[in-house]
Amino acid sequence: MKNLLNKLRDNNYLSYDELLKVIENIDGYKDILFQYAVDLRKKYYGTDVYMRGLIEFSNYCSKNCKYCGLRRDNKKVKRYRLSTEEILDCCKEGYRLGYRTFVLQSGEDPYFDDEKLISLVKKIKKNFNEAAITLSIGERSFESYKKLKNAGVDRYLLRHETASEYLYKSLHKDMSFSNRRKCIKDLKDLNYQVGAGFMVGLPNQTNKDLARDLLFLKGLEPEMVGIGPFISHPDTPLGEFENGTVEKTRIMLALTRLLLPKVLLPSTTALGTLDNLGREKALKSGANVVMPNLSPTSVRKDYEIYKDKICTGDEAAHCRKCIEGRINSAGYKVNMDRGDHISLQKFKKYI
Ligand code: 5AD
Ligand code: SF4
Ligand code: FES
Repeated sequence: MKNLLNKLRDNNYLSYDELLKVIENIDGYKDILFQYAVDLRKKYYGTDVYMRGLIEFSNYCSKNCKYCGLRRDNKKVKRYRLSTEEILDCCKEGYRLGYRTFVLQSGEDPYFDDEKLISLVKKIKKNFNEAAITLSIGERSFESYKKLKNAGVDRYLLRHETASEYLYKSLHKDMSFSNRRKCIKDLKDLNYQVGAGFMVGLPNQTNKDLARDLLFLKGLEPEMVGIGPFISHPDTPLGEFENGTVEKTRIMLALTRLLLPKVLLPSTTALGTLDNLGREKALKSGANVVMPNLSPTSVRKDYEIYKDKICTGDEAAHCRKCIEGRINSAGYKVNMDRGDHISLQKFKKYI
C-alpha cells in the first residue's frame, strides 16, 4: 500500500487495478493518504481556501434524477424562481461581503432560455465587473453553451454523477449517459473552466465504480471537481437507502487531489450536513474551495436536493463569518479573489 500511495503521489497516476486496490485496502493508511493530499494542495495553493457565493435562483426541474429532492415528480416541493432584481440583490450582498465568484445554480428550468440567461449574465458582469460567473444549470446544447460563454460566463459545473454507464442509467431513466459526456466535452472545447464530479455512497455503487470515476476525471482534467456524499431524500425513490459516509468521501477527495494536483476541489455542503465538522475534515483531505450560500433566506429551505441541508435559515453574512471561523480552525485562510484555476492565474501574470 505504501508503495502504491508513493507512486500515486510521485506520478499523479495509477492504473485502474492499482486504484481499486488502494480503495479496497485503505484502512490503516488513511492518515498517510490525507497527509499526501494536503502536502500537494499546499504546494500549489498554500493554505488559501477560495470562496464562492452560491445563488440558487430556481428550483424548477424538468429532470427526474432518482436521488434528488428537486426531481420533477416530487410534488411536495414549493417551486420558486428568483427575479432578475432578486438575483442582482444577492450578487450585491455577496460583493459587499467580498465574494468575487458567483455560482448561479438551478434545476433544469426551461423558463431560463438563452435570451434570459444572457441578459442576466450581462447585467451581473456590468455591475460586478471583476467577478467570475459560474453556471450550474445542467445539460444544454453546444450552441447554448457557446452563447453563454460569449456573454461572459467563465466557468460551468456539470457533475458527471457516475462514470459507470449501468449505474448512470439506473439513476436517470430518461437521460442519456453519452449526452452527459458530450455536454462536459462541449464545455471543455468552449474553453470554460469546467467542474465535473460525482456522489459517493450511491445505492449499489461499488469500489469499481469509484475507481472508474477517478480515472474518468484523470482523463478529463477538469479545472474543478465536486464530490459529495449521497444523502437520501425521503420524497424520492431512493428515500429508504443509506447515506454515503464522510470517511469514504474524504478518501475520494484525497485521491482526486493526488490524481489532479492543481484542481479546485470544494469542501461540499453535503459533508457539513452529515457531520458538523465534515467541511473541516474535507479541507484536511485536500479540498481548497468552499461555496457558502447567498440565496435569500426566504427560499433556501425550498432548495432541498437532499435531507436536512444546512444553512437554510442563515443569512449570507452569517455563513460568511461561520465558514471563515471553520477555515481558520482547520489551519487555513480565506482567499476572496476570483480564484481561477492556477494555470490561468499564472497566465494572467504575463498579460
Ligand atoms: N445527495 C447528495 N448529492 C445530491 N445531488 C443531488 N441530489 C443529491 C443527494 N440526494 C448532487 C448531484 C448534483 C448536485 C447539484 O447535487 O451530484 O449534480
Ligand atoms: Fe434536476 Fe439537478 Fe436534481 Fe437532477 S440533480 S433532478 S437535474 S436539480
Ligand atoms: Fe452557513 Fe455555517 S456556513 S451557518
